[in-house]
Amino acid sequence: MKPTSILDIMVKDHGKIITLLNDVEKNMNNDVLSMMKAFDSFEWALEKHIFTEEKAIYTSYNPVNIREGYKMVPELVQDHNELLNRLRVMRFDILKKHRCDFEGFKCSLLDHKTFEEEQLYPRLDEELTNEQKLMIVSRIKEIV
Ligand SMILES: [Fe+2]
Ligand SMILES: [Fe+2]
Repeated sequence: MKPTSILDIMVKDHGKIITLLNDVEKNMNNDVLSMMKAFDSFEWALEKHIFTEEKAIYTSYNPVNIREGYKMVPELVQDHNELLNRLRVMRFDILKKHRCDFEGFKCSLLDHKTFEEEQLYPRLDEELTNEQKLMIVSRIKEIV
C-alpha cells in the first residue's frame, strides 16, 4: 500500500486554487458580476485551504529541528494573514472598478505555494508517523 502523503493531497488542493485564480484572471476585463462570481469561488477555496492548513496541519507539526521548524510555521501563518488582507483589498477594488494588484497577489501566492510544496509538506511526510498522517488526512477530508 502506498504510504499516506500529505504533500499529494495538498498539491491537489493547490491545483484547484490555481485553476480558480486563473478563472479570476480570465474574467478580469469582463463585467463586475462575472468577475465577482469568479472571485467569490476563488476566495472561498483559498479561505478553506488556509483554515485546513492552520487548524489541521500546522498544529500537528512537531519539528525534529526545533529552531528551524518552529520558525517556519509563524512565517507561513503571517503569509496567510497577508494574503487574506490583500484579498479583502482586491474585493473592494474590483467592486469599485479600481485597478487591483492582481499580479503582485499572484506572485506572493505562488511563492507561498512553492515553499509549502518544496519545504513544509515533504518534511511533514518524512517526520510524521503514518498514524498521525491518517489523522490529519481525515480532518482535511472533513473540510476540503
Ligand atoms: Fe498555506
Ligand atoms: Fe497551501
